[in-house]
Parts: sequence; C-alpha cells; structure tokens
Amino acid sequence: MSDAKAKQCLSLLTVCRWAINYALRRYCLLLAVIGSRVAGVGLDMLKPWPLVFLVDYVLRGRHMPPYLERMVVELWGGASPSSLISLVVALTVVMFVLGWLLNLADSYAFLCLRQAMNNELAGDIFYQLQQRSMQFHAHAAVAENMRRITSDSTCASTIVLDALLPAGTSTLSLVTIFAILWRMDPVLAALSLTVVPYMVLVLNRFAEPLKKGIDDMYVQDKRLYTLVEQSFRTIPVVQAFCRENWNVARFRQSARAVLGANMARNRTNRQFGALMGLATAVSSAGILWIGGQKALAGTVSVGILIAFLSYLGSLYKPIEKILRTAPTVQDAANRAVYIWEILRSETHVRDNRGAKRLQVLQGHVVFKNVTFGYDVGHPVLQTLTFEALPGQTVALVGATGAGKTTLVSLLARFFDPWEGAVLIDDQDIRHVQLKSLRNSIAFVLQEPFLFPVSIAENIAYGDPSAIFSQIESAARAANANGFICKLAAGYNTIVGERGATLSRGERQRISIARALLKNAPILVLDEPTSALDTETEQYLLRDLRRLRQGRTTFIIAHRLSTIRHADVILVLGNGRIAESGTHDQLVARGGIYAGFYDLRFGEKVALAKTLRSVHDGATDASACS
Ligand SMILES: Nc1ncnc2c1ncn2[C@@H]1O[C@H](COP(=O)(O)OP(=O)(O)OP(=O)(O)O)[C@@H](O)[C@H]1O
Ligand SMILES: [Mg+2]
Repeated sequence: MSDAKAKQCLSLLTVCRWAINYALRRYCLLLAVIGSRVAGVGLDMLKPWPLVFLVDYVLRGRHMPPYLERMVVELWGGASPSSLISLVVALTVVMFVLGWLLNLADSYAFLCLRQAMNNELAGDIFYQLQQRSMQFHAHAAVAENMRRITSDSTCASTIVLDALLPAGTSTLSLVTIFAILWRMDPVLAALSLTVVPYMVLVLNRFAEPLKKGIDDMYVQDKRLYTLVEQSFRTIPVVQAFCRENWNVARFRQSARAVLGANMARNRTNRQFGALMGLATAVSSAGILWIGGQKALAGTVSVGILIAFLSYLGSLYKPIEKILRTAPTVQDAANRAVYIWEILRSETHVRDNRGAKRLQVLQGHVVFKNVTFGYDVGHPVLQTLTFEALPGQTVALVGATGAGKTTLVSLLARFFDPWEGAVLIDDQDIRHVQLKSLRNSIAFVLQEPFLFPVSIAENIAYGDPSAIFSQIESAARAANANGFICKLAAGYNTIVGERGATLSRGERQRISIARALLKNAPILVLDEPTSALDTETEQYLLRDLRRLRQGRTTFIIAHRLSTIRHADVILVLGNGRIAESGTHDQLVARGGIYAGFYDLRFGEKVALAKTLRSVHDGATDASACS
C-alpha cells in the first residue's frame, strides 16, 4: 500500500472511531438501534418460510420431515392441510406484526440517536468556533461557520448511521443469507455470487463521479449560503448603490448552479442504480432458468426455489448497500476531517498549563518591548515600551491605521505579541487565566456591536446579574438615559439586528453603559465618543472622568478634546511611541501632537452650541418616566 493510501485509510479509521465515540455517548439508543436491526435481519430470514410450507406441504402435498411434523403437531395441534394453511396465515400475521413493531422501535431509536449525535457535535463545533482567534474570525465567512454547525455537524451520524450500521447489518444479512442459500443448493448459491465482481467493477467506475456529485453539491450550496448572508449583512450598501438586481442575478445564477449540481448527482445515482439493478435482474433470470430446470427434474422442490429467489433479492440489496455506502463514508469522512481539525485545533491564545487567576490589585499595566503584526514580516507595533500607572488614564493618539486598536487588543489577549510581554500588576498576561484577564477589563469597542434584544438586556450584557437600578445608573453615566427614556418602550425597546434601529451615537452610549456596568478595574475606550456631538461628548467625558477614578483607563480618540485631560498621552507613529507626555507638555514640545492639536482642537464648537438646545443629555439627570 502506498504511503498516501495508508494515510488515507488511517485517517478514515480514525474518523470512524471518532464518529463512533459520538454514538457511544448515547449507548442505550445505539444498543436499541443495533438490537432492532439484528432482530430485523433474523425476521427477514424467516419471511420466505411460510410460503415454502404452503407450496411444498399444502399445495404439492410433500411430506414434512418427521421432526418438523412432530413440532407442528405439538405446537399447533395438527398437521392436516387445513391446519397447515391456518398455521401459514398465523405465521405471516405474527411476522408482519413483529416486523411492524421492530420497524417502529428502530425508527424511533434511530431518529433520537441521529438527532442527539447531531446536537452534540453541533454544540462542540459551536463552542470551539467561539474559541477561535479574532484573526480566524476576521477571515472566516459567517455563512461558512453556520454551515459547519447546522449542516456539517451531521457527518458523525452519517458515518455511523448511514454507513457503518448499514454496512454491519448488510454484512450480517449477506453471510446469513449466503449460508442459507448454500444449504438449500450449493450450485445455485455459488451462481448467485458470479455477479459480485461485475458489481465491484461498476462501483469502481462510479466511485469518483458519485463523490464528485456530492462535492459539487457542497461547493455550490456553500456559495449560495455565503451570497445570501453577505447580501443581507451589507443591505444598506446594496440599497445605497442600487445593487439589488445585480445581487438577484448572482443569486439566480448560484441557485441554478445548485440545481445543476443536484441534477448531475441524481443522474449519476440513477445510472449507478440502473447498472446495479441490471446485475440483480440478470442473475435472478439465470438462477430462475437453472432452478426451473432443476425443479422440473425434481432435484429441487418448488417451495425451495421460491424461497431461493426471494432470498436472492435480499442477497443483492446488502451487497449494493455496502458498495453504495463507500462514497457516503468517504464524503462524510472528508467533512469530518475538517471538523475534526476545528475541534482539535489549538487556538493560539489559550490558557497555558498552570495558568493562575489574574489578581488585579492596583491596575499597573506595562508593555515591555512588544512587537506584533498580523502578517509575518509586517509588524504593526515594534518594540513598544510604556507603562500605565495604577488609576492613570492613558490616551492613545495616532493616524488611522497606526495600531491603536491593535495595541489595546493585546491587552485583552485577543492576540499574543510576537516578542515582548504585557504585564498587569507584574503578572505576564500570557500566564494568567484568560477568563480572569478578560473579566478584569471592560471594553468599549470601536464598533459598537449590539444584540437584537432590549436595551436593558444589551446593557446587562456587562453584568447579567445586574438589577434595573444598576442598569439605569450605568446608562445615566454613559449619557444614554435621556434618549432611552424618549423611546416608546424605554429600556424595553428591542434594538434591530446589530442595533440597526439606533443611531451610531446612541449605540456608542449603550456600549459605554455596558462597559461601565461591568465595573472592571481596567477600562478600555476605543473611540467611545467618535459619533457624538461635542456637547454630548463633554457631558459624557465629565461623567467618565469621575468613573475613571481608581481605574486604569486606556482611551483612544481622534478628537483631542476627548483625551486632553489624560494623565499620559502616547502618540503612535510607525509602530512606535513617537511622543509621550501630558497635553500641555506635548503642545509645548511642538511635535506631532501639537500638529494634531492645531488641526483639530476646538472643532465643531459653534455647531455644538447650536445643538445644545436639543441635546438630550439635559434629561439625563431626570428619572425615566
Ligand atoms: N485582522 C487584521 N488582519 C490583518 N491586518 C489588520 C487586521 N486588523 C488591523 N490590521 C491592520 O493593522 C494596522 C493597524 O490597525 P488598527 O486597527 O490597530 O489601527 P487603528 O490605529 O486603530 O486605526 P483607526 O484609527 O482607523 O481605528 C492597519 O494597517 C490595519 O490594516
Ligand atoms: Mg482603531
């Protein structure tokens, strides 16, 4: 066996073992399914026998073997033709009822097991995907992740329930049927297997097209999902640029491709089925021909010939099933390998062995020679060193793309630096528990993400145990109480998808309230006021200054009015700290910061004055009626 083939077999074996483990988590259901399938095979073996009785011992009047006659007389009370007919009828009815009950039990257990396996795996994938790095999610399409959870999560159940289980029961049927056929007539039995090489040849010829059919369906489906997801995600841009028709054309084209792939797959399946059916038909005809001659010659009874032909149908079904499952296993295994990689992938940022809880006693943050970038060879931050003393407010200033958001992302370990270290109260954050680190930092992200739930619930995301009065006071501190009270349902107002029913400034204030409610010792504000008018900003900053006391705060802003009261201002340039100091020191120095200051400070003052009369901050002092 070549290396590649051996590797493939190994991974197939490993994947099968992994899938079986999911089934074993519900071993009672698995046992019920296996039990009903094995009983089903046994029942199938018995099915032709009432007919043999009827034809041979009733219609053709052959004598039963003495042991059989004794058994019938003892159990049934007589072996006359009329009592044998009633015995045949009774056996048929009993077998029908038993078959029906087994089928019922099997369908129920099978469905429950499939659903349970799918749910377990989907939950594991969902959990693991949530752990993946920001970088992973920056590149992964949401539709792709959704497909992994909703659709690919069926691969373990497909492997076990649609491939291994049918292959197992089919092998059992095959062996049992062949043994029975061999006992009935070895020549006919041997003859029945002559078509098997032909069937294997057909499978060999169709294995690739069958697999390609499944792959094509998968790729086209994925394209359609991604297109729909991206169209709705960017709907304001779509409508603003009148791209609806263009999108619809792309959708129709993609939907046609899905249909085409589906049709092609069906065509291949039908051709494969027809060629397999041909084998069954030819072989049955041959056996009927030879069996008929033998029956005429009296070497085989008519009943046995009928039973033989009936078994023959059941013999080919398992062979076909086993052969058919090969592409199914291969396809499910391919997806499983991918999912398996997700489940086993080590996220770069994770708890290191022996990680301890972060103890934030003072909130002293140190960046020590930190170098980091997203792409190898292109550092965004280079040998950056600075410290934020306990309770200090550190402002980060710099041109767009200078690396301000990147810098604060390192503080929460969204990424680990390439070189250097970030320390909080002398603890290297790589060696503390991630959860304790992130619990110690309250973030107002640059993009104010909201969930499509009520405003109160959005704020309470910072502390799910918070009571309403705490939510309200956080909203007041974030200068949000005023506008929330003006909404028809106040704090119970449901915001749209990603907060689409609110203005950006309103969203920003809710995300500030959410961070304040978290009450963490370190506060990170990434452009918290960029969408606010200057007047609202001043109200908010006044309250924030009070709330920042005792917390180490990082504040990023392009507006210098936001950061002029900071204890230290760091000016980022070329991935390094180009300047640092207080506002007055930096202005006096006449460097980069002073250049920014000249350009921006005092902007929109006139406009703010005009807006003052309609400013909703004035209502923030009052309670929500
Ligand atoms: N996930 C990412 N993958 C690759 N590059 C990234 C990623 N995020 C940011 N960058 C790049 O890193 C650099 C710094 O980005 P960052 O978001 O930190 O800038 P910023 O100073 O916060 O800018 P802004 O003021 O516009 O918010 C930019 O050149 C940006 O293109
Ligand atoms: Mg930024």
